[in-house]
Amino acid sequence: MSSNKINEELLKFLEKSPTSFHAVANIAEILGKKGFTPLTESRKWELVPGGKYYVTRNGSSILAFMIPGKDFQGFQIIASHSDSPSFKVKENPEMDREGLYTRLNVEGYGGMLCAPWFDRPLSVAGRVAVRTEKGVETRLVNVDRDLLLIPSLAIHMNRKANDGQSYNVQQDLIPLYGDGKAKNSFRKLIAKEAKISEKDLLSMDLFLYSRTKGTIWGAKEEFLSSGRLDDLQCAYASLKGFLKAENSKSIPVYAVFDNEEVGSGTKQGAASTFLKDVLHRIAGALGKSEEEYQVALAGSFMVSADNAHAVHPNYADKTDPTNRPFLNGGIVIKYSANQKYTTDAVSAALFKLLCEREKVPCQTFVNRSDMAGGSTLGNISNTQVALNTVDIGLPQLAMHSPYETAGTKDTEYLAKAAKAVFSASVLVSGDGGLELV
Ligand code: CO
Repeated sequence: MSSNKINEELLKFLEKSPTSFHAVANIAEILGKKGFTPLTESRKWELVPGGKYYVTRNGSSILAFMIPGKDFQGFQIIASHSDSPSFKVKENPEMDREGLYTRLNVEGYGGMLCAPWFDRPLSVAGRVAVRTEKGVETRLVNVDRDLLLIPSLAIHMNRKANDGQSYNVQQDLIPLYGDGKAKNSFRKLIAKEAKISEKDLLSMDLFLYSRTKGTIWGAKEEFLSSGRLDDLQCAYASLKGFLKAENSKSIPVYAVFDNEEVGSGTKQGAASTFLKDVLHRIAGALGKSEEEYQVALAGSFMVSADNAHAVHPNYADKTDPTNRPFLNGGIVIKYSANQKYTTDAVSAALFKLLCEREKVPCQTFVNRSDMAGGSTLGNISNTQVALNTVDIGLPQLAMHSPYETAGTKDTEYLAKAAKAVFSASVLVSGDGGLELV
């Protein structure tokens, strides 16, 4: 076993976090143990200097912050995302096959690689809405056993199976749940897991997840693999850095948003007002005027942290010829001329200086010019609250597979860099000029 403590912790966190709801609940639990006070958006906030707080929205996005004193220079933010591509269980999911099989109807969530979902034990997790005496409350559910499987079609029944396969979710990716007798048992199973009676189960947000446990592997245990490294590796490593932040003149803000994989355009996504609302309320609760709030925003810095593509050992020419990130080579700064990534000369320079402070190596990623590539939450968040922002990530392979691979050293690198970001303060010395204090 590796002595790499942070990666063992990360794997435990990943195992306990099969959905964005679980990830946020686990982050809230860690923050609670460290003395953070939960806030609710629907109540008035009383914030005191020296206080530590967190607030969630929809149970699937979370923002945490620490108040250094009544006066502060700006906000030092790191944002990542809580969701990963998966399959959502549809309403009325049970599908009969000749009275002898029961399957569960699902639809895709985000842009997943389909092939690795076949032939491995799966289960369901998420949240349910429950009838109470006064109205509704939500509960987390995780059926913590091997429950479902999507069997491949045998090679004998599809001789072209290895010649470039295309997948139709409605046809190919419907998981097998039980024999014919399993019909009409799914709601009962979920109600039992939620410890409620079936009549009180009002609605569900349930997703499939792979039961394959994460592992640390390689000749020198230099790699780790698990589901949901994109983007819980960033969420977890930046949380470690946040909890080690040292007093700065700015307010450190730890952010994890849901729904990045479907474009962020939800009430709790990075395109929502969640971050803007919280920053505004912090300033208001500390007695700042509107102008003082705008001054604080101008002296703020945001890191959008979402995993990046490493050079693939078998497809090395898929990566740009001069910007080639490798696993364990350090934090990847992502660039895009069309600003799919927010990084510019100034924000990259600032991030490099902060990494230098912690002796953390950086690498660069730019898409090949003949490839479209993906996008992330930085530029989307900037349409709500515009900040100096850099896009970064940890290098990984097999992005959007239910079993992704990353480098063990890189987790620690991000925890260190995050500590530097959260402990720093930026003094604006003109348009484009910044001083780190
Ligand atoms: Co991502």
